[in-house]
Amino acid sequence: MARDGAAFVCQSCGAVQSKWSGQCPACNAWNTLVEEVQSRPPGALAPSRGAKGLGLAFEGLQSTSPAPPRIITGVDEFDRVCGGGVVPGSAILLAGDPGVGKSTLLLQVAGEAAKRGVSCGYISGEEAIEQIRSRAHRMGLAAAPVKLAAETALRGIMDALKSEKFDLVIIDSIQTLWSDAHEAGPGSVTQVRACAGELVRLAKKRGIAVVLVGHVTKDGQIAGPRVVEHMVDAVISFEGERGYPFRILRAAKNRFGATDEIGVFEMGDSGLAEVKNPSALFLNEGGQRSAGAAVFAGIEGSRPVLVEVQALVAPSAYGTPRRAVVGWDSGRLAMVLAVLEARCGLGFGNRDVYLNVAGGLRITEPAADLAAAAALASSALEEALPQDCVVFGEISLSGDVRPVSRAETRLKEAAKLGFSRALAPAGTSESGGMKIAGVSRLADAVRRIGEGGLGS
Ligand code: TYD
Ligand code: MG
Repeated sequence: MARDGAAFVCQSCGAVQSKWSGQCPACNAWNTLVEEVQSRPPGALAPSRGAKGLGLAFEGLQSTSPAPPRIITGVDEFDRVCGGGVVPGSAILLAGDPGVGKSTLLLQVAGEAAKRGVSCGYISGEEAIEQIRSRAHRMGLAAAPVKLAAETALRGIMDALKSEKFDLVIIDSIQTLWSDAHEAGPGSVTQVRACAGELVRLAKKRGIAVVLVGHVTKDGQIAGPRVVEHMVDAVISFEGERGYPFRILRAAKNRFGATDEIGVFEMGDSGLAEVKNPSALFLNEGGQRSAGAAVFAGIEGSRPVLVEVQALVAPSAYGTPRRAVVGWDSGRLAMVLAVLEARCGLGFGNRDVYLNVAGGLRITEPAADLAAAAALASSALEEALPQDCVVFGEISLSGDVRPVSRAETRLKEAAKLGFSRALAPAGTSESGGMKIAGVSRLADAVRRIGEGGLGS
């Protein structure tokens, strides 16, 4: 039985229950309910302070004073994902798997920004000062005037932020902080929510930009801090495939910019290096392109990115053929396979299908449909696509190839990287000296691939 004022909070989704049970009724996670003492019943309003029953003072949309300029940190890929620099007074959550490089990235951001005269603080609850120093030294940032602190008590951090004048403060990580106003342990939903709330409020009040680091759990949730996502102005995730040095920064929510921008980094001996030309990275350089490979001319945020899509169609050794996909949506693969079967006469019923996006990139654009279909058809028909050909286009269930946005940008990027033709939706106009093999039906594309009819 719960004590007075006690409630059971799911550490995964943050739902509050009055009774303990083995499985959270809200998100179905097992063993995540933990007893936490609530200072007031969940959902109850805090007593109003300051308002004194005078009502709200409404303001117009037009501001009388100009907004302060964004903080340009000098790490361009980071600035772009934030929407063109960090907005003063905003709170950003940087989420990622342990070990992906969050601390490295933010130390770099703090170091570069400090070198440009931004007043930066880096508060770590995970590492000792000496560890951070030696990392900064290795990254060539030892001389940057960053103010370091190792602290986990929220009260100490709040006092420091009130007494020193900071423009940008990094908190690494939100899961290590604890507030003495709550009984729950560090990392619990109550603590994480309380600490993030306090920091975000202070950030807004004093115009400090705060970046909170949040670890992600095995199943991809921001551990506990799902509850933090709606408190902050931007949620940025830092991702990387195991075994690849590439790291991708992606905005999942941004109140001050677009959410489709990506930043690309490469992890090396001296920290993260910005990758200015991601296409060169995701293309399988050198050697003949073999059957089953197609180069997709994609768009990530505002930038064109070329990436190789690889497919392997092989006879299945078992009754149920395998479908495995890395870097693309498996539902989308099933759809493209069904359209290839139903509209183009290619059978996959007794064959295993593997699809892989090179370089560890994850593609979400529908424009990749045709590239995936071309790779699959190329592998099934054992006919390689021409070396100098890129592919883009959306496929509908009826087997039509639909036009996609920003074809010109895609073609120009492909031309820049030495490609000279594109398998694209019919009606795409030539650009940048690229020849277009226009198709309006997927069956037409498959036939031309089978006949080797794209090369001339
Ligand atoms: P880290 O930033 O500590 O990860 P996180 O804060 O997300 O947990 O990065 C840890 C990994 O990065 C570690 O496995 C080693 C690697 N790394 C390098 O390869 N080169 C470097 O210069 C640095 C600083 C880290
Ligand atoms: Mg870390």
